[in-house]
Amino acid sequence: MTTAVQSSIIIVPTGYALGAEIQGVDLRSPISEADVAQIRQALLDYMVIFFRDQQISEQQQVEFTRHFGIPIEHVREQRDRPIKEIFVISNVKENGEPIGALGNDEISYHSDLSYMRKPGTISTLYAVEIPSTGGQTEWVNCYAIYESLSDEMKTRLKGKRAVHRHYVESQNPQELVDQPVVRRHPQTNKPSLFVGPHLTKNILGVSQEESDAILKELNEVIHQPRFAYRHHWRVGDLLVWDNRATMHRREPFPATERRIMKRTQIFNDEIPYE
Ligand code: OGA
Ligand code: MN
Repeated sequence: MTTAVQSSIIIVPTGYALGAEIQGVDLRSPISEADVAQIRQALLDYMVIFFRDQQISEQQQVEFTRHFGIPIEHVREQRDRPIKEIFVISNVKENGEPIGALGNDEISYHSDLSYMRKPGTISTLYAVEIPSTGGQTEWVNCYAIYESLSDEMKTRLKGKRAVHRHYVESQNPQELVDQPVVRRHPQTNKPSLFVGPHLTKNILGVSQEESDAILKELNEVIHQPRFAYRHHWRVGDLLVWDNRATMHRREPFPATERRIMKRTQIFNDEIPYE
């Protein structure tokens, strides 16, 4: 007789183009191999997964991230950083100095660290303090965006590459990084659109005019609400996303409000390919 191990995990899809809540997991405790496998599969299926009401330390967030790869120190320096794999996203200032990155302004659609040769694969974000208004984060399903394009557009994009560059010049690597406009996910093998308004500069091999026109047209598609899931943050949310199939944007929020998020990232392990 075999004893089936009952999993306590419940996967609740958001009902939008991507995203699912994972219930029945306490991220402070070790997770069984079977449950980890289910969680990893949910991330492949839904691209964004989240766990509510978690109370985790920085170390526990790093440990949990290890189920998806090797979390590494962000490319950018940050002060007061006992646990190197944690990167603070915050507008809060202490002694006049921001304790984290990204301030309170809007951040338009991007895939993390796409300006690096081996960009972000998986990122996690844990909500410690959230503003009373604004600061929501929205993800889009880049498989569905690609799929929705006309055959003519798909043909135009085939084999094309685009330059990605951080808008703060000093944060870029020495080399000029270009990435495939359409990338294939190494696990699902599905193509997705890999250009966005925030970090993509231009498409190579066409005139600047044509590149601008294509990116403008794609930008309009990216912003169609049917491709999006908008996350309404609550303190204690831990969200995981796959940058190889999604992009995300953040709404602005009032400078007078506090927002503190902790982030881990897996990058530097894969070169995107079409
Ligand atoms: C990020 C990011 C969005 C947010 O950490 O990569 O884009 O909501 N953050 O803070
Ligand atoms: Mn980001």
